[in-house]
Amino acid sequence: MTVNRRILTLDEFTLQQLRQFPTATGELSSLLRDIGLAAKRVNVEVNKAGLVDILGDAGTINVQGEDVKKLDIYANNQFMGVLQHGISCAGIGSEELDDFVVFDDEVSNQSKYVVMFDPLDGSGNIDVNVSIGTIFSVYRRVSERGKPCVKEDFLQPGNRQVAAGYVIYGSSTMFVYATRRGVNGFTLDPSIGEFCLSHPDIKCPPSGKFYSVNHGNFFQYDINVRKYIDGCQRKTKETGGPYTQRYIGSMVADVHRNLIKGGIFMYPGTTDKPKGKLRLLYEANPFAFILEVAGGKATNGKERILDIQPTELHQRTPLFIGSSEMMAELESYLNQE
Ligand code: AHG
Ligand code: MN
Ligand code: MN
Ligand code: MN
Repeated sequence: MTVNRRILTLDEFTLQQLRQFPTATGELSSLLRDIGLAAKRVNVEVNKAGLVDILGDAGTINVQGEDVKKLDIYANNQFMGVLQHGISCAGIGSEELDDFVVFDDEVSNQSKYVVMFDPLDGSGNIDVNVSIGTIFSVYRRVSERGKPCVKEDFLQPGNRQVAAGYVIYGSSTMFVYATRRGVNGFTLDPSIGEFCLSHPDIKCPPSGKFYSVNHGNFFQYDINVRKYIDGCQRKTKETGGPYTQRYIGSMVADVHRNLIKGGIFMYPGTTDKPKGKLRLLYEANPFAFILEVAGGKATNGKERILDIQPTELHQRTPLFIGSSEMMAELESYLNQE
C-alpha cells in the first residue's frame, strides 16, 4: 500500500505548527507525541479487549467510588508512563489516582507542563464493544521550573489550558486536539500506525439535531432542565427540529458526534447527585476548551465551565455543552424563575 503524502501525520502537523512560532521550544509537540504513543498502545489493547483476560473488573474501587475495569488501570499506566519518561511533563493528575503525581526527577522538574487525564472514559462500555475514549488537558505550570510541581499547578481554571484533546477508540480510532489556534482531528491509519490529519480545523455547527442526556434520570433533574428536554421532544420542522435523542454513555463518543454534526450534551445535577457525575478537571474542562475553540459553549448552568476556580482535584460539576445556538436556547430555559 502506498502512503498518501498529501496527508500529514500528527507529528508532521505539530512540527509544522511549531515552525510558525520562532520562540516555541517544541515541548508541546513532544508532549502530544507522547500522548499519541500511549493512545496507540491503549488502542491495541482495546481492540482485543474481548479476547484477553485484561478485560473486566479489576475488583477495586477507584477514588470516585466506581468499579475499576482492568483496562482503566492499563490505560492509566500507559499515559502516566509516557509522560513520566518524556521531557515535557512535570506531573500528572488522573481520574484513577487519589492524588496528583509529581515526577520529581531532573528532567521532569525542568518541564513546562502538567497534564490531567481520564485514561478511559466510558469504561462501563468496554464489555459490550461500544466506543470508549481518553480525555486530556494540558496546563503550563505556575510553579517555578527547576523545582517539583505543586498542587496549584493542577488547580488552575480551565481558561488557562494550553491544549486539550481526546482519543476515541471507535469504528476508527481518532485523536482530536485543540490549542487556542484551532481544533484538528487525526485518524489512526492502522497500516502505518500513524495518526493522519483527517479533520482539519474542526468547527462545531452553530445548531444541530442531536440532544444527549440520560433520560433515566429525568425526574431527578431541575424543573427548568426538564422543561428544556421537553422542548427538545416537541421540536418540529418549523422550530428547527425534529431533534434526535442520542446517548451512548461514553461522553467522548457523545460529544465527538455533537462536535462534528452539531448538538448538545448534558449531564445535569440530580436530586441524588446535585453536582452530577462528571469531573471538572478530567472531563468538563478539556471538552469545554475544545468546544469553545470550535465555536461552541459549555456551562454548569450558572457559570462558564472554563471560569470555575477548582478547589479539589476530583470535584464534579453539572455540564451542558454543545452548539452555540442550542446552548443559547438552553440558557433561556435555565434562566427562568
Ligand atoms: P468514566 O467511564 O470515565 O467513569 O465516565 C463515564 C461517564 C461519561 O463518559 C458518560 O457520559 C457518563 O459517565 C454516563 O453516565 P450515566 O450512565 O450515569 O448516564
Ligand atoms: Mn470512572
Ligand atoms: Mn470519564
Ligand atoms: Mn474513566
